[in-house]
Amino acid sequence: MSSNPGPRVAVVVVAAGSGTRLGAEVPKAFVELDGSTLLERSLHAVRGMRSGAEPVLVVPADRVREAAEVGQRVFGRPVEVVGGGVTRQQSVAAGLAVIGDDVEVVLVHDAARALTPSTLFDAVVDAVAETGHGVIPGLPVSDTIKRVHADGSVHETVDRSTLAAVQTPQGFPREQLLAAYAAATTDETDDAGLVAAAGYRVTVLPGATEAFKITTPWDLQRARDLVGPTGAPRIGLGTDTHAFDPSAELWLAGLHWPDEPGLSGHSDGDAACHAIVDALLGAAGLGDIGGVFGTGDPRLAGAHGEVFLAETRRLLEEAGFRIGNVSVQIIGQRPKFAPRRVEAEQLLSGILGAPVSLAATTTDGLGFTGRGEGIAAFATAMLFAR
Ligand code: CTP
Ligand code: MG
Repeated sequence: MSSNPGPRVAVVVVAAGSGTRLGAEVPKAFVELDGSTLLERSLHAVRGMRSGAEPVLVVPADRVREAAEVGQRVFGRPVEVVGGGVTRQQSVAAGLAVIGDDVEVVLVHDAARALTPSTLFDAVVDAVAETGHGVIPGLPVSDTIKRVHADGSVHETVDRSTLAAVQTPQGFPREQLLAAYAAATTDETDDAGLVAAAGYRVTVLPGATEAFKITTPWDLQRARDLVGPTGAPRIGLGTDTHAFDPSAELWLAGLHWPDEPGLSGHSDGDAACHAIVDALLGAAGLGDIGGVFGTGDPRLAGAHGEVFLAETRRLLEEAGFRIGNVSVQIIGQRPKFAPRRVEAEQLLSGILGAPVSLAATTTDGLGFTGRGEGIAAFATAMLFAR
């Protein structure tokens, strides 16, 4: 959970390649997969990390403005975007150049690995923090591998038990990665190659099959098959109610509302976010907010909706679901919601990686909401099995 103290992390997402092997009309990272570009999907994975991370986007120079808008949409705030170089290594170097001095762990990720789960990012951060050296995800090789001469004749079989097919995100202590880039004399296809060449230790942890690199049209089709609706969709319903507490600050739908009476509760009383969490957990069959988060957990005292939503998304993804969409209705006399509806929708959609639509209504003065005693929220959510 984001309240856990962990290392300060930056994730460089490289997306500046042209995608010659894919052969699409736009650069590969800007190809769409079920309505979202590969870049946007990669950013949602970063956004879904348990511990917050600072993203750095590296894109073709003529796409910087477009990528900045995507970053703003996903993270709900401006993010760093730079133009890339001729090779992947040059693109990573451009990203490293803008990372803050306070960052302790740097992850480098290929936007082309657009379906990588957030949990793999978390696992890499944890392993780097624990070991103090570079950690990269890798999978065992299942094909028999031959060394082949230029004329096509087979030379020998390579012992595959010693091989790993490596993926991204690759994570490193910042100073080791910077030193390796500063000392680079060769052009490598991954970052661990440079870090190892500079004399630092790098180890492999288990990768994720979904983290495959979209390289060819066949890979793109495989990715499309994976993200398209599969199996029957599942729906969930959630509601929440909190009483006004004028001594508290108001947090509603993930936003802070200055000069409005707040809502009472162990956390920040954000009824809209709590209703969404219950709808999502219900759709997945994972219980409810009280059971999953517990009202006694001191880490959640005063926690904002974002903490609950990001963790819920992580749990759903771990359980093999992706969110289709969420719809929420807030019932109350105040605050006046319409002027900030779009802002809230963008924020919550970014956190959940799926469209969130919000509506608000009053009750003609009837009931506890009509008397201005509190706020209620109702949410529905749809999930797809991955
Ligand atoms: N990349 C980059 N800058 C480059 C080359 C590659 O940022 N000059 C990024 C790509 O955008 C991709 C990742 O590095 O996310 C892995 O590269 P690859 O899959 O080879 O992508 P492309 O180089 O775009 O594809 P191709 O080699 O088929 O042209
Ligand atoms: Mg390439």
